[in-house]
Amino acid sequence: TAPLRIALAGLGTVGTGVIRLIEANGAMIAQRAGRPIIVSAISARDRSRDRGIDLAAYPWYDQPEQLAALDDIDCVVEMIGGSDGTALELARKSLASGKSFVTANKAMIAHHGMELAKAAETGNLSLRYEAAVAGGIPVIKGLRDGASANRIERVYGILNGTCNYVLTEMEKHGRAFDDVLKDAQEIGYAEADPSFDIDGVDAAHKLAILAALSFGKALDFEGVEIDGIRHIMAADIGQAKALGYRIRLLGMARIDDGKLFQRVNPYLVPENHPLAHIDGSTNAVVAEGNFSGRLMFQGAGAGEGPTASAVVADLIDIARGDAGTVFATPASKMEPCERAESGNRIGK
Ligand code: HSE
Repeated sequence: TAPLRIALAGLGTVGTGVIRLIEANGAMIAQRAGRPIIVSAISARDRSRDRGIDLAAYPWYDQPEQLAALDDIDCVVEMIGGSDGTALELARKSLASGKSFVTANKAMIAHHGMELAKAAETGNLSLRYEAAVAGGIPVIKGLRDGASANRIERVYGILNGTCNYVLTEMEKHGRAFDDVLKDAQEIGYAEADPSFDIDGVDAAHKLAILAALSFGKALDFEGVEIDGIRHIMAADIGQAKALGYRIRLLGMARIDDGKLFQRVNPYLVPENHPLAHIDGSTNAVVAEGNFSGRLMFQGAGAGEGPTASAVVADLIDIARGDAGTVFATPASKMEPCERAESGNRIGK
């Protein structure tokens, strides 16, 4: 059978990880997918940067948009990032030219997910974004397919690996905020602009996606109330601990009396709650289904290997011709939902 020919845009942490993974596991992936997955084109801003892998064999394009116009490409994989601009152009053009699209870009899906999902549905194309939420954890697939028979009215969890890493390092080793954040940047957990991590915006992107997926309502990133961890001090963490709590940045979304509540905020999590024991860059997502009961998805939420693993899993599904729907509900049927008033937001 013909291979699945992919074009990769963006060769940062995730992009190079995808190439490394396909090079390492290619034979097994071909077997599982029923055909090889071949990287036929790559594009990134800086051609000369040493990425620790030999890219000489891969046809290089200087402009990411060129990838959308290539004739012999089945699927474009976008790992550039950013909610608008190049990434969004590439998504629109790829889908418009009949190519499937895989992205790790939570900002873009949070802002433009409805538009892109409708474009994919109209063109009968695959749009996949497993890597956009909670890194290597198959939570998109879990909620979209595994829990698809359920009414889900609450979804919450630890959605930012950088914040969780910072909070747990401060708590366990008494390290200073800035020092730990620098670490998280060096390891490759943090966003290009780490204020997206520590101010809660990255978690909010992921929360809005999870909410749309879980509730079948139109994605509403603007409706997320956001607070981050910038103002949390070592003394807060120590005091919380003395009282039997851990401080965690949680994203929480629920449907309250038919209204949508979405919030990212530091919470005091009691020590006997499973989320209190999610340490380091680990993420965890809890969803409550009306027949499944409580589901908890846990694993590495950031970093090269886990995120690449999610991207390539999407590609395997596409290679199999089994990529499924974008959300659990067709995007054309996802109505906007009234937002819950702030004042009513405590309780349950
Ligand atoms: N900066 C993100 C995080 C990467 O720390 O969770 C994964 O989306």
